[in-house]
Amino acid sequence: PSALRIGLAGLGTVGAAVVRLLDRQAEALTSRTAREIVVTGVSARDPARDRGVDLSAAKWFDDPVVLARSGDIDIFVELIGGAESVALASVEAALFAGKSCVTANKALLATHGMRLAGIAEEKGVALSFEASVAGGIPIIKTLREGLAGNSIERVYGILNGTCNYILSRMETEKLSFAECLEEAQRLGYAEADPTFDIGGFDTAHKLAILTSLAFGTAINTQAIAVEGIQSITLADLEAADELGYRVKLLGVARRTEDGIEQRVHPTMVPKTSSIAQVMGVTNAVTIDADAVHELTLVGPGAGGEATASAIVADIADIARGVRSKPFGLPVGELVKAEIAPMQLH
Ligand code: HSE
Repeated sequence: PSALRIGLAGLGTVGAAVVRLLDRQAEALTSRTAREIVVTGVSARDPARDRGVDLSAAKWFDDPVVLARSGDIDIFVELIGGAESVALASVEAALFAGKSCVTANKALLATHGMRLAGIAEEKGVALSFEASVAGGIPIIKTLREGLAGNSIERVYGILNGTCNYILSRMETEKLSFAECLEEAQRLGYAEADPTFDIGGFDTAHKLAILTSLAFGTAINTQAIAVEGIQSITLADLEAADELGYRVKLLGVARRTEDGIEQRVHPTMVPKTSSIAQVMGVTNAVTIDADAVHELTLVGPGAGGEATASAIVADIADIARGVRSKPFGLPVGELVKAEIAPMQLH
């Protein structure tokens, strides 16, 4: 079969890592998918910047929307970020043009995921987003395919690498919140606007996606009660420590009598618990389900390579011809009514 041609929009930490990984694994990927995977089109804000990757085979596009519908590509990979404008316009353009899309954009999915999934379904193309939640952990596939034989009661975990990095560094190195945030930004973990991380919104976006997959509900971000870590001080962590606890920012979704409850907030966890051992940029997701009982996946939640690992897995699936329903069920069957609005205070 002919080569699978990738259009890549956004060449930041993750985008460059995707190019590198596709190159490094080229042979193995061709064997696994029976197709050669080639980046034929790219778009980024600054074409002149040296990213240390070879893009000589790719055509440059100033406008990602033009790239998205270009006849030069088969799959569109959106790594621009942000829920509105260019990211949304380009993913829509690609789907309407009948091209499968891969995105790491949790804000986009949490806001427009249902509508985009509807378009993908109508067009018979894939909308894949393994990289959008918990970086390198294959949690989307686990919930959508791996646990298809289960009824899920609860899904919760540490879903933001930046926050977990900050809380871990504050505790172990006695550094200030601001110093730790700066480090996380330098390491490429944080969002372009880190308020999304520390305010808990990034965790909420990811939780919204997991909730839909776990419970077969339509995404409802409005129903999530959100509190971030911005007011946590070193003194708070020390006080928790004295009592035998650690503070973690958790996202929790569970089935209740009134519907699905979703919340995000800093939580005191006993130091002896397994979730308390998850330190640094690492994420962890625990699923309580009737057949497997309890399942926990732990792994890198942010960073170029780990996130690229998930993007490349999605690309490989599409190359193999896999076209899963983005949220597991046909969009029309995702029931909105089951989500109960929550208030924390
Ligand atoms: N800013 C996000 C995090 C990136 O720190 O987890 C991965 O989604």
